[in-house]
Amino acid sequence: MLKQVLLFIFLGVNFISFSKVDFVRVVFNKNGDQEATIGWHQVSGDSATVYWGNKDLPATEFETFPNRGFVAASNTYKNLENRFVRLVELEPNTAYYFAIKDEDGFSERYWFKTTPNVNTERLSLIAGGDSRSRRPTRQQAFRMVGKLMPHAVLFDGDYTDIDNAQKWLWWFEDYKLTYQEFDNRIIPFINARGNHERSNDCLINFFDCPAKNNVYNVTLGGDLINVICLNTEIRFGGAQKRFLEETLIEHQNFFWQIPLYHRACRPHVNWKMKMKGVKQIYNKWIELFEKYGVKLAIECDSHITKTTWPIRKSKENGHEDGFVRDDENGIIYSGEGCWGAPLRVPDRIRSWTRDYGSINSFKWFFVDTTGIELRTVAYMNAETVEGLTEENRFDMPKGIELWTPENGDMVQISK
Ligand SMILES: [Fe+2]
Repeated sequence: MLKQVLLFIFLGVNFISFSKVDFVRVVFNKNGDQEATIGWHQVSGDSATVYWGNKDLPATEFETFPNRGFVAASNTYKNLENRFVRLVELEPNTAYYFAIKDEDGFSERYWFKTTPNVNTERLSLIAGGDSRSRRPTRQQAFRMVGKLMPHAVLFDGDYTDIDNAQKWLWWFEDYKLTYQEFDNRIIPFINARGNHERSNDCLINFFDCPAKNNVYNVTLGGDLINVICLNTEIRFGGAQKRFLEETLIEHQNFFWQIPLYHRACRPHVNWKMKMKGVKQIYNKWIELFEKYGVKLAIECDSHITKTTWPIRKSKENGHEDGFVRDDENGIIYSGEGCWGAPLRVPDRIRSWTRDYGSINSFKWFFVDTTGIELRTVAYMNAETVEGLTEENRFDMPKGIELWTPENGDMVQISK
């Protein structure tokens, strides 16, 4: 009997032989309508290939996936063997299924979806950052991503606290919660660098970031959105400012241009006002944001929750910290990073601060050609929230807890 059991186990193990990959991720690095990068950690072995196509197939039929994607970039970084396959010329608004094959066999089957390439489709996006510690908390945030099924996540830096191998391993472990319980549907990330990433190499080596200085842009929804990923840890002027202006000009016809950067221009935690970003963003970037019609900027770093009224750079009478409220021409600044990092108490509040608080949360916003609806999701009850589907992704799911400050749970930004 024992022999038979052992033989059965032996045969079983041989029959089900899986590829040795982990931490599978999908990143939008240029144009979410047509391109995506698939990344993973190669646990052992190598020569991996991505089999992919736009039909969902059972595990036994992976070989019949029509396309093969070969590794375009690879590195060993912080003990992870990162491999990337870059998919281009994809169909917009299309589900792509894939499995990674190495010398040991196939991985599980994963999938993701490209964004539509027309501005007539509304997009759902999540923005946040500062996931650097408190794992049980940030795990809830990752889980909530899967529940809300946005088209993409704008991740605004400070992934880990001390940027070492163990912390990144845990980060990727937690990141898997965005898809593990959701049919392996991976929500693509768009990544910006924070001050806890000790160099620009993190984004390049973990997410195949296309820019050495981590300054780049990603378009979504045809001419609906241009996300501008900036880097508050390098020189604010020079090449970065030039790129900022170039991309703002190039996408002037877009409905929305949304800068994503880690350090806040006007932090709502007082001691953070001494940070270099405060002066630099104000002096180097804000005028450009205003000149080219930015309406919403995403910030992080202070571990508090805030959204401003629309504000404009000004030293006129009544300004506070160099800004005045301007409902017509102002920009709304929203943030500031509560994806697991220890919460702080906002203690620098201005007349143009719309609402502020200290709550584990991220931003969730819907974008179309007429406006943006922005909410703050208190994600700690992720497990009890009813998951959304593609059909109802713009509804408020049962059980969701929205941050509801004095001025309401929804910020409306008009074109
Ligand atoms: Fe930070």
